[in-house]
Amino acid sequence: MRISIIVANWKMNKSVSEAVRFVQELHSSLTENDEIEVVIAPPFTSLNSLSEKFKDSPIKLAAQNVFCMPDGPFTGEISPRMLKDVGCDYVIIGHSERRDLFNESDEMIHAKIVAAIKNDLIPILCVGERLQELRSGQTEAVLARQLDSALQGLRSTDVERLVIAYEPVWAIGTGETASPEDAQVGALWIRKRIQALFSAKISNGVWILYGGSVNPENAKELLAQRDIDGALVGGSSLDPKAFLKIIQTAVQAKRNK
Ligand code: 13P
Repeated sequence: MRISIIVANWKMNKSVSEAVRFVQELHSSLTENDEIEVVIAPPFTSLNSLSEKFKDSPIKLAAQNVFCMPDGPFTGEISPRMLKDVGCDYVIIGHSERRDLFNESDEMIHAKIVAAIKNDLIPILCVGERLQELRSGQTEAVLARQLDSALQGLRSTDVERLVIAYEPVWAIGTGETASPEDAQVGALWIRKRIQALFSAKISNGVWILYGGSVNPENAKELLAQRDIDGALVGGSSLDPKAFLKIIQTAVQAKRNK
């Protein structure tokens, strides 16, 4: 049985002191349990400070991006080895904001996935359709392209620990969530694609998260869906109380499954 994973993607928010304060508040109310993994993806500038805070904590650290090369003349970029060195276990790859605002191609995302795995980082691969793609019935074609290209050539053992976040682009930061039923359809479709690409065993083990305007009010129904193993939370992860509520909802949802 898969554990649940709740990831806070803070995007470009919070100074180091704000990040530390958030974590102190979260720690004081978080009760330890082994059914759920809590992951925080702060900006690069806070990784080191939070890593110190997480030494005796079950909370895991993620980066929001990574470059695919190990080192060299790549001004402004951060390598997988550097993320590992600073204490990251996870890295978000292929977020729609990176694809759309920074022109990240499917090829680049694939290279980042390979580099992350090579350095023992667990990729959180984001996939999802834009509004016009939804409207023109292209959701499955888009998901297929993004998954096939990101995962091509990987070994089953590489995919075993993969996290995939289904984030319909039209639901990100808009307050508009996919209905729990539609989110489940998307998650199941992704799982079946992994089965076709690898095997039933692998697809049963892969974590599939939903992302897009998740909040304490809608989390319960989304997380109750059979193929949704957690959430990638943007806006609602910036407030420790709201984020804690989503974590508690996930614990309950997991127990009810
Ligand atoms: P929101 O929760 O703000 O819609 O953001 C979702 C997201 O992009 C998480 O990666």
